[in-house]
Amino acid sequence: MTSFPRDPDEAMASPAALRALIESRRAVRRFTAEPVPEAVIRDCLELAVLAPNSCNLQPWSFQVIREPALLAQLHPVCMSQHAARAPLIIAVLARPDTWRQACRQIVEHWPEAEVPARIRHFYGKTAPFQYNQGPLGLLGLFKRQLVRLLALRKPLMRRPNSRAEMRLWATKSTALAAQNLMLAFHSHGYATCPMEGFDEVRLRRVLEIPRQAIPIMLLAVGRQGERGVYNPRLRFALEQQVTWR
Ligand SMILES: Cc1cc2nc3c(=O)[nH]c(=O)nc-3n(C[C@H](O)[C@H](O)[C@H](O)COP(=O)(O)O)c2cc1C
Repeated sequence: MTSFPRDPDEAMASPAALRALIESRRAVRRFTAEPVPEAVIRDCLELAVLAPNSCNLQPWSFQVIREPALLAQLHPVCMSQHAARAPLIIAVLARPDTWRQACRQIVEHWPEAEVPARIRHFYGKTAPFQYNQGPLGLLGLFKRQLVRLLALRKPLMRRPNSRAEMRLWATKSTALAAQNLMLAFHSHGYATCPMEGFDEVRLRRVLEIPRQAIPIMLLAVGRQGERGVYNPRLRFALEQQVTWR
């Protein structure tokens, strides 16, 4: 288990530096063959898992793929797209199935001498009730009806109460980790391309992905190659996307 002693002042990145990092990240589709050092990969994964995540249950896992034979198998699985010729591909998996173990681990590895009672209660009672959908999702069905009734009297969190909602639940946190991962690689001078253009059935077979895990993105990583960025940056106006109240 990792511990993170940090002085908050130390973490105050300059807004200009953060803006420069975010602005200069692009989806890169051509890479050189230069391998990505393991120390860099580790550093970036450590930052990925610092992403905010639901109830700190960290519902994600990652497969780091560097073996040339496996990369060669992945290329057709990714519709033979250029980005999938990278020297490194990281499969980012959402894990709606790991919350039970995570509840146990949080209590076991609590980073203080005493586990506070509220933490024991939350991870021993509240979270298991919230995330357990039961066999065939039947408990979820029951909880949905229960919540509908109870919510007539007071505001209640209404999700996740089905297996589909559990998948969405895990995907939200995992996408944030994926973004951390891309920015971390970028900070080391490595480009990335997130890819959802893959054949999921073949991907599961090639990478032996556990049945309940969801491959939400494959990240191609490497040094940017010539003409690696295909298009100029384009974003819609904030006014179109933001409502101020
Ligand atoms: C979930 C997701 C899936 C994506 N899938 C692909 C993909 O399969 N192939 C690809 O070339 N780019 C893919 N992209 C990259 C986007 O096309 C790219 O981020 C977008 O055009 C904006 O460009 P920018 O990242 O350079 O700002 C994906 C991005 C995301 C977030």
